Amino acid sequence: MAIKHFLQFSDLKLDEFEYLIERTRLIKRKFKNYEPHHTLADRTLVMVFEKNSTRTRLSFEAGMHQMGGAAIYLNTRDSQLGRGEPVEDAAQVMSRMCDVIMIRTFGQDIIDRFAANSRVPVINGLTNEHHPCQVLADVFTYIEQRGSIKGKTVAWVGDANNMLYSWLQAAEVFDFHVKVSTPRGYDIDPSLVAPGNTHYTVHATPTEACTDADLVTTDVWTSMGFEEENAARLQAFDGWIVDEAKMQRAKPDALFMHCLPAHRGEEVAAEVIDGPQSVVWDEAENRLHVQKALLEYLVLGKLD
Ligand code: CP
Ligand code: NVA
Repeated sequence: MAIKHFLQFSDLKLDEFEYLIERTRLIKRKFKNYEPHHTLADRTLVMVFEKNSTRTRLSFEAGMHQMGGAAIYLNTRDSQLGRGEPVEDAAQVMSRMCDVIMIRTFGQDIIDRFAANSRVPVINGLTNEHHPCQVLADVFTYIEQRGSIKGKTVAWVGDANNMLYSWLQAAEVFDFHVKVSTPRGYDIDPSLVAPGNTHYTVHATPTEACTDADLVTTDVWTSMGFEEENAARLQAFDGWIVDEAKMQRAKPDALFMHCLPAHRGEEVAAEVIDGPQSVVWDEAENRLHVQKALLEYLVLGKLD
């Protein structure tokens, strides 16, 4: 069987996501009921982090343990990656000692080169360009709370970053629409969007993007790896906060999502993230459940 990687959201097809969503529901139920679900017994996940993480590390590591397997954490500082070992060589070695690998790194080219040299599935745990595991958790959370996401409208308020590019790919797969509002100078790079993706529109203001949305989502103004731009971004993003006034423009039953960590008073007002429309804690928890389904699928294929 050919190795399946999850390097971008578009790496999997709708029927595979539908399988993952059903499997996630089952795995979540078992977890809540303390029922064992050891489908990855004796399997090992290696996690490579070149950037900080709380949720991604915790959800992958806890998930492997709960499925009867083991997870090993590596970072740039302690491993030879930080001393210049070629990523291709690291992939050859690591993939001979484990069953699946998750990487959080900078450029997408790094994870692509790693995967091209890996004997086992590779999962993107965040790159500068994509964050597919988070968007999988977000789509699952929407479906869990509101039913099908097909035909729905997602408002994106913020810069064109890894989360937005994964949302745009998810919109194509699941057939929903993204209304994008980015501050001037932080707009979409067309080379990161599939030609012919008609599932998004660009709007001049965040208020316009939020109007009639079923889901409003935002993210930090300065993503990891872009810290030196922080001061300029604080100025450029003035007015891009998701506050109560913008949520009022969305549909009355709209949800609010944020991948976290959040900065109250910058990209989101406290009354929104801590308010009744916010599902940010469910989103975070669902990282655990969707990634368990994903790990199982990439390692074992579809189970009956
Ligand atoms: N949302 C997310 O990926 O969180 P961490 O950076 O804590 O992993
Ligand atoms: N866009 C953010 C997401 C953090 C989970 C970043 O890349 O830092």
